[in-house]
Amino acid sequence: MTEYKVQVTTGDMTHAGTRDYIHVTLFGTEGETERTNLDKWGKDFATGMTRIYTVEPKASLGKLLLVKLEKDPYLLLPENEWFCSNIVVTTPEGDRILFPCNRWVSRGELVELRGGRAMKVFEEEHPLLIDHRKLEVMLRQKLFKWGVYAAGLPHMNNFKDSSNLPDELRFSLSKNVELASVKVNTAIKLKFTGLADSTDQWQSIEAMKKVFLCNKTPIAEYVSEHWSEDDFFGFQFLNATNPNVIQRCSELPSNFPVTEEMVKPFLQPGSSLQREMEKGNIFLRDYKRMDGLPTRKYDQPLHLTAGLCLFYMNPENKLMPIAIQLHQQPSEQNPIFLPSDPENDWLLAKMFLKNADVIEYETVYHLMMTHFLAEAFAVATLRSFPVIHPLYKLLIPHFRYTLQINTTGRPLLMGPDGVLSQSSLGTESLTELMRRAQSEMTYSSLCLPEDIAARGLESIPNFYYRDDGVKLWGIISSFVKAMVEHYYPSDTEVQKDSELQAWIKEIYTHCFLGDKKSGIPTSFQTVEEVIKFVTMVIFRVSAQHAAVNNGQYEYNAWTPNSPLLMRKPPPTTKGKSSMKTILETLPNVGETVNFMSLGLLLTSPYSDVVLLGTYPVERFDEPAPKKMIKEFQANLTDLSEVIAKRNSKLVVPYNYLNPAQMENSIAI
Ligand code: FE2
Repeated sequence: MTEYKVQVTTGDMTHAGTRDYIHVTLFGTEGETERTNLDKWGKDFATGMTRIYTVEPKASLGKLLLVKLEKDPYLLLPENEWFCSNIVVTTPEGDRILFPCNRWVSRGELVELRGGRAMKVFEEEHPLLIDHRKLEVMLRQKLFKWGVYAAGLPHMNNFKDSSNLPDELRFSLSKNVELASVKVNTAIKLKFTGLADSTDQWQSIEAMKKVFLCNKTPIAEYVSEHWSEDDFFGFQFLNATNPNVIQRCSELPSNFPVTEEMVKPFLQPGSSLQREMEKGNIFLRDYKRMDGLPTRKYDQPLHLTAGLCLFYMNPENKLMPIAIQLHQQPSEQNPIFLPSDPENDWLLAKMFLKNADVIEYETVYHLMMTHFLAEAFAVATLRSFPVIHPLYKLLIPHFRYTLQINTTGRPLLMGPDGVLSQSSLGTESLTELMRRAQSEMTYSSLCLPEDIAARGLESIPNFYYRDDGVKLWGIISSFVKAMVEHYYPSDTEVQKDSELQAWIKEIYTHCFLGDKKSGIPTSFQTVEEVIKFVTMVIFRVSAQHAAVNNGQYEYNAWTPNSPLLMRKPPPTTKGKSSMKTILETLPNVGETVNFMSLGLLLTSPYSDVVLLGTYPVERFDEPAPKKMIKEFQANLTDLSEVIAKRNSKLVVPYNYLNPAQMENSIAI
């Protein structure tokens, strides 16, 4: 008798175990076993349990190809789903082969697992596996279809409600419970203090601080104390939640007539704007993309300004705003505000800029350019690759929970009553803003080193997002290079992998909407192209998302620093604004606390977290990728130590790109 040892591991999440009967059939090149009931004394498939069973065919099966699992009712008990983590089969010849499963199994479902080393489509030889592979991809394409949220935006998944998603793509029970508790706790705290439903106007900036009693962090407190200071205003364009937008300015835009006289007092004595531009010390933030977007209906007209702001990197290495124009077209009613203007005028001008900034940041740089892109990458991956494909094994951990958070979050943020739709812009204008951004999005702008170079920010001092981000890009890129070169030793393998080509085609068509000028490849010709693209994907869904997501509460909960709506018109002349004007302009009490609780919900720590570079689910069976993962982890740990050391010397630390604080995927 030939003996196969079949080791079965049940998942360790709540309710993963089952009482049902589990049957296994092994298929090899020389035959198959009988359908065998896996049964030993005591409980077989309890949560977190690993048990070994023996299957004894009459003769060796040859090379092992597939493991088939079937689940049958135990007595008359109702359905009791089972989460199978993996099966490991030890053959009579002594080979130990991993068959990853990582899915919930129901009665009557067809579950056939591929095992062993990762395989590309053109490497398949056995007819059984060729057919199995085709069928798997076909079934995936039937299950995961493309949906359209709005014309001109990246396509999304086809599940209307997150409860329809396949179970293994949904939040764990613990994550659901913790999310609900953050929501409930915040709501209770705010209701208890009578704030959430209040339409009252704030009576003073100090009065707002009481909502901070809910959740204090050192940075959130720092923001509430320093938000009005010019150097901290500039600092945030480098190291807060929106480090994506300023760029070096070597020539003033023609619609921003800042004169030498205006800004001379704020430059180094004896210098000039022209000279500072030549030295590379002048920077610009231009909100032209937001020009002309209608504001939403409200009980009074709301206001959004598509302004321009000029910054000066001064000799103390502080980025200082030196001129602000609130609308695109210069006119008498659209003066250029200066730091020497009356305090409240200058403050209000900065607040109008930050209003536009926080709306564009949340809508474009956070939602669209991380969440929506990640979802499209995930759907393309689920549709194009079978689980045995090396890129599926590499990428799928980086899409954990993304479909669920997007399906749940989209209406909560962008729907008619969504939190973002309660900003100065309603759903339609937010969508239009995304559409404009999508039409300008390029492959190059998604690759951090290229984006930094294009914005002329290679040498601007104290730019920690760049410093940490470029290092992280390098670490991710080395890991991806090792992996991709291992599975694609030459360009020929890339060119003949039809599944890989289908994947990039899906992304080109459904994520970048077939826009040739985006520079997104329509096919891959070289190994190098694959490395770059996969690096971009992993960086975007881990690092870039962490950079724009994790500071939401700390930087944006303090409303005067990031007001989501402005209730009074922007100043058109100088010397007429007071603190009363500012308080009348800011969101009311209820709006303030609702925006704040969103930040809290999206940045609260959860226990069900998988950090960048950790792969708790074993998917690769061969030693080489396992070694590469270990090297990747070691490099991330080193970077984390460098960042922690640097941060220990900073008044305002930058920790959003610390790998120790960053998830593998967009999970919130
Ligand atoms: Fe997010």
